[in-house]
Amino acid sequence: MTTSRYVPPIAPGKLPLIGHAVPLIKDRLAFIQSLRAHGPIVRITVGPKSMTVVNSTELIHRMLTSQSDEFTKGLLFEKLKLFGKDALPVAEGKPHLRRRRMMQPAFHREQIAGYVNTMRESVQPYIADWEGGTPIDMKTEMQLIAQGVVMSALFSAAPRREPAHTILNSVDTVFRTALQRALLPISALERLPTRRNRKARDAGSALRTVVAEIIAEHRANPGAYDDVVSLLLTATDETGAALPDDEILSEVTALLAAGSETTAVVLAWLFHELGRNPDLERRLHEEVDPVLAEGPITADRVPRLAFTRRLVSETLRLYSPAWLVTRQAISDVRLGEFSLPAGTDVIWSAYALHRDPDLYPDPLRFDPDRWLPERPQPPKGAFIPFGSGKRMCMGDAFAWTEATIITAMVASRWRLRPTPGTVRPVGAITTHPSSLHMVPELRHHAVAGKAR
Ligand code: HEM
Repeated sequence: MTTSRYVPPIAPGKLPLIGHAVPLIKDRLAFIQSLRAHGPIVRITVGPKSMTVVNSTELIHRMLTSQSDEFTKGLLFEKLKLFGKDALPVAEGKPHLRRRRMMQPAFHREQIAGYVNTMRESVQPYIADWEGGTPIDMKTEMQLIAQGVVMSALFSAAPRREPAHTILNSVDTVFRTALQRALLPISALERLPTRRNRKARDAGSALRTVVAEIIAEHRANPGAYDDVVSLLLTATDETGAALPDDEILSEVTALLAAGSETTAVVLAWLFHELGRNPDLERRLHEEVDPVLAEGPITADRVPRLAFTRRLVSETLRLYSPAWLVTRQAISDVRLGEFSLPAGTDVIWSAYALHRDPDLYPDPLRFDPDRWLPERPQPPKGAFIPFGSGKRMCMGDAFAWTEATIITAMVASRWRLRPTPGTVRPVGAITTHPSSLHMVPELRHHAVAGKAR
């Protein structure tokens, strides 16, 4: 066997000089999906930059678990350091492990039940404010709601509408810039004093200003809160040293960003599917109505929302926010039968994996019942909306509960009706709807101004 046998092949369609830039710009999601037809691992190029796309379920799994020490988080996360260079999602090695151990307790499954009441109280005013018949921009609205939940449950901060929009715009700008930079072949452009680069820097500092206020409020009232910010303020490392302020700031900012956009797009897609599947909507009502008729949603009522949870699972499958996640080989790596030289930029896509007909029959069909326990389940490693291994999402249990509660609360009060127009998935930092406006319609039994 020659060494070249192990070099991943170049995907078809590469043009001189620009490589695969055209399909990547035209429709990234379709392009990344199409690459699955070309083998377990393929290479794509954009200008001088080459990226290796891992398609195989098994090889993705190995890369994220048994071989995870051979990779860093790679290009996209490098650019996301705009949120703060030491924050958990972008930290590497020992600092990552230390920080993860420190914060993990706040995200343990048992801990999540304690957040349910705060989640409910946070969501309630948003959905009580909707006006029947007036279309809402689903992505923005769900972002505000999800951001409000993270802020109230994890930071004990009640976001007001104005700063909430500032945070949203800042996170959007930083995300957009990070993605552009990750896909851009020339990194020197990032340092030019262009309007776009200035905007990204300003967005980063606007975000940090809002978060700094939350931290200052906690510092001024020690012992008043029992949340993630307090945990970070009182935490010490193995030498007994407290975390420096700028690291706490980075961590809180990153959590806000990681926890808002992802859950928000999942919810937007879920309501989009309900809007065009009245039968699923009816089944949701049949489940939610008797549970919420007993009183407001509480932790012990959540397990009764099994169909609601299946709707969330199916949305996480079909519209997985993680359409592009990166890694970089630290040294020469052997992945399956392929060799990846040190420095190789790697991509994996939960979105593409979850739409593979070899793994999911009739993959484009939105079918929550494929998650019924009696139905055959996808093979190991084929459902990874939150990633896997040591870098797996720390907020997965939080997100499941949050999405289930928000779906139930909205459905108990409103029907969200579609508006005319085509809705396409767009691959930005997450997989978001191109444009999605829906019209709230008060359900017959719902009382104005009251949402459970
Ligand atoms: C539906 C919602 C969500 C989805 C689909 C999602 C997805 C992901 C994925 C795929 C990763 C791993 C990236 C990688 O392997 O490189 C990740 C990491 C992370 N997520 Fe989430 N996430 C969601 C919600 C949340 C929430 C609500 C929080 C916290 C409030 C959160 C906090 C984090 C953190 C801190 C990491 C970095 C973990 C580490 O590197 O150790 N996420 N998320």
